[in-house]
Amino acid sequence: MIVSCIKQNKYFSDTCQVTVALSEKSVPLLISGDYIGLSRVVMNLLHNAAKFSRPGSSIEVAINKLDLATAEITVTDSGEGISNADQKKLFQRYGQAEAGKRKANSTGLGLYLSRQIVQGHQGQIGCKSEVGIGSTFFVRLPITQPEINADSNADSSADPHAEKPNACRIARIA
Ligand SMILES: Nc1ncnc2c1ncn2[C@@H]1O[C@H](COP(=O)(O)OP(=O)(O)OP(=O)(O)O)[C@@H](O)[C@H]1O
Ligand SMILES: [Mg+2]
Repeated sequence: MIVSCIKQNKYFSDTCQVTVALSEKSVPLLISGDYIGLSRVVMNLLHNAAKFSRPGSSIEVAINKLDLATAEITVTDSGEGISNADQKKLFQRYGQAEAGKRKANSTGLGLYLSRQIVQGHQGQIGCKSEVGIGSTFFVRLPITQPEINADSNADSSADPHAEKPNACRIARIA
């Protein structure tokens, strides 16, 4: 899923002249949930990181096991960063820092909606940021299975034509 999101965001990141890479230390993990919803969360983080980065800079995406039961996806940029005061309003409806208000076509809804989706998966979303240094946004989600082989496919044993309700679709996040 993460690789697919990076590919989907490539046109925009190219436009912003930033490169996006998945950390080599990332581990493949399984999450039960709404694939489309979680993809939207990751896409908004990638979109934001590119939008608020300087041309020529790079963005790193990583997937790690925070503990036995928790997966953590992080998106780190070296953009302008967000003040402590602004960090408090980012996840509110229409909450934007000054940089966001200056951008055309930015509504300030992306992180608000992302938080609803992540909380619906019993997860957490947040950020750590320093002005002038950059930002790391993280999404923490419960792991469905501890770890899988990087080459295996979550649905490999299932009938490919079987109907799968969205609510319990397995999202492979690496
Ligand atoms: N990586 C980042 N670096 C700096 N500021 C950020 C970053 N990500 C988000 N922000 C700030 O948080 C605000 C809210 O982000 P959010 O995704 O909710 O809305 P948006 O990107 O402005 O609009 P939308 O997602 O609806 O297009 C942004 O407007 C910006 O001020
Ligand atoms: Mg956004």
